[in-house]
Amino acid sequence: MIRRQSEFNDSTLSKRLLAYGYKHWKSFLAVFIMMIITTVVGLLSPLITGKVIKLLEDPLLDFIKVIYWIIFLGVVVFASVILEVILSYILQKTGQRIIYEVRENVFSAIESYSIAQMKETPAGKLVTRVTTDTNTLNEMYTSVIINVLKNVLTIVGVLVAMFIVSTKLTLYILLFTPVLVIVSYIFRKYSRRAYREVRKNVSNVNSFISENISGMKVTKVFGQEEKKYKDFHVENTNLKKSSLKEILAFAIFRPSIYVIYILAVIMVLWIGGNEAIQNNILIITGFTYVELIVFYQYIDKLFNPLQQLAEQFNILQSSLASAERIFEAIDKKSDIIEVENPIELTEIKGKIEFKNVWFSYIPGEWILKDVSFTVEPNETVAFVGATGSGKSTILTLITRNYDIQKGSIFIDGVDIKQVKISSLRKAVGQMLQDVFLFSGTVSSNIALRDEDITEDEIIHAATYVNANSFIEKLPNKYDEEVKEKGANFSSGQRQLLSFARTIVHTPKILILDEATANIDTETENLIQDSLKKLMSIGTMLIVAHRLSTIQHADKIIVIESGKIIEEGTHQQLLKNKGHYYKLYKLQYEGSDI
Ligand SMILES: Nc1ncnc2c1ncn2[C@@H]1O[C@H](COP(=O)(O)OP(=O)(O)OP(=O)(O)O)[C@@H](O)[C@H]1O
Ligand SMILES: [Mg+2]
Repeated sequence: MIRRQSEFNDSTLSKRLLAYGYKHWKSFLAVFIMMIITTVVGLLSPLITGKVIKLLEDPLLDFIKVIYWIIFLGVVVFASVILEVILSYILQKTGQRIIYEVRENVFSAIESYSIAQMKETPAGKLVTRVTTDTNTLNEMYTSVIINVLKNVLTIVGVLVAMFIVSTKLTLYILLFTPVLVIVSYIFRKYSRRAYREVRKNVSNVNSFISENISGMKVTKVFGQEEKKYKDFHVENTNLKKSSLKEILAFAIFRPSIYVIYILAVIMVLWIGGNEAIQNNILIITGFTYVELIVFYQYIDKLFNPLQQLAEQFNILQSSLASAERIFEAIDKKSDIIEVENPIELTEIKGKIEFKNVWFSYIPGEWILKDVSFTVEPNETVAFVGATGSGKSTILTLITRNYDIQKGSIFIDGVDIKQVKISSLRKAVGQMLQDVFLFSGTVSSNIALRDEDITEDEIIHAATYVNANSFIEKLPNKYDEEVKEKGANFSSGQRQLLSFARTIVHTPKILILDEATANIDTETENLIQDSLKKLMSIGTMLIVAHRLSTIQHADKIIVIESGKIIEEGTHQQLLKNKGHYYKLYKLQYEGSDI
């Protein structure tokens, strides 16, 4: 099979796919048995029709017997239709169950990715893994496997029946095989290419739409609607063209098979008809026009599955490609690895130590160069420095969002690489630069999914960080709806909510990466007041853009291009008249004049 190179070959893929199906083997067995019954019924019905015709032409016509056979045929066909309905119900139900499980597995795998791994895959692609790819897989369980089996079984059955009815005519039919093979081969080749193009273009259109809906505000602000529309038009046209190509492949293939079928029928009628006439006169081999009718019906039953097989091969290909992408997503291990028997942080004092830490996002490009500092329990340490100097990076390393390349980070004297990651993240409350709110309510955004947190605790936390006053003014207060990404809240309000969210989980160490966005004076005052309270909770590491925020910090660390260049209290650093002094003067003058 032609697919892109990967770690999976078809047999490993099939084994893993079967493993998902295996749990439902009873359903599949039931379906398989029903499928055999319906196929056999399908194969027998031409024979029964032949039997009825023979009875009808008998000079001593036994009418009752004919009626019996017709009723028998009716009952059998009706029963097999009912079986088909049950069969497809069981199949769909089983397919949905399997896909449900696959979706859960993919999602939990994605949840375990490290932040770096999340960033390297566009969100749209991950969404496709959980939705579109699993759906394609569903088609394989519910239609392809069973239909391929059914078609193969039918073809074999029909050929056997044809041989029994007339060896000679069957051999004539088999003469068409090479033509069928060539036509199917060309179709498969062409349609596979078309199919891939369609997939690619669908994905292009999807990512175009999702990116541009997110960025619609920017488009509007810059009046770029028309230009974006033109770009979309190009993507959309590509999709239309490739879809038409795919449709064309089917539009040519199906009639071609039909033409071959008609040719086969003409040949059979010609040769078989001649033979039947001669036999009717001479009675040599017993091949009469009744056999001819039976045979004719079998040709029909032979060509349908042949055509379907060629078409199903495509679905099989795309299902395997989807399966491959799904298993890749499931197998991807987080690159932040926990040691065996990790240490659980229980009683935390809150001492943090960076010892000769070197770190880079991209190999070779050092963002932090030999950074060392110590924060004693309950101290507040502030980081200042130009944009891009590495302040946020320092904070993000404490919870192992990324692993450092050289040096060590300790919490209460324990290397964080030895610590259980979940207990590490629980110990440290992070308030990041870009606050993310989930769609839901104000309450649900503060408690997140922690069910142990009561409504009282939520209100208490919100009050503590000064968020209560604006929440109380909302029409539905704590039940106020939060739109996607918190679009209906100002950046100051979002920040206050993130404070509440952090302290409600009672961490011993707080990390605050202050947002740079402009905040109105009233909210600013609330935030400043709230910050003072936060500093008294435990150890606090803070990146502040407004130096007024951090004057009371126990220590201020000045960073430049990933290096610590100054360290001390506000007063000490001012006295030194170094980098901090310049920064302070700039801001002080900037704001007061
Ligand atoms: N995920 C990432 N992948 C690659 N490089 C990154 C990534 N995140 C940050 N960087 C780079 O690392 C450097 C430090 O970034 P960092 O976010 O720590 O700066 P910062 O001091 O917090 O700046 P700001 O004051 O603007 O918030 C920057 O040069 C940035 O381009
Ligand atoms: Mg930053």
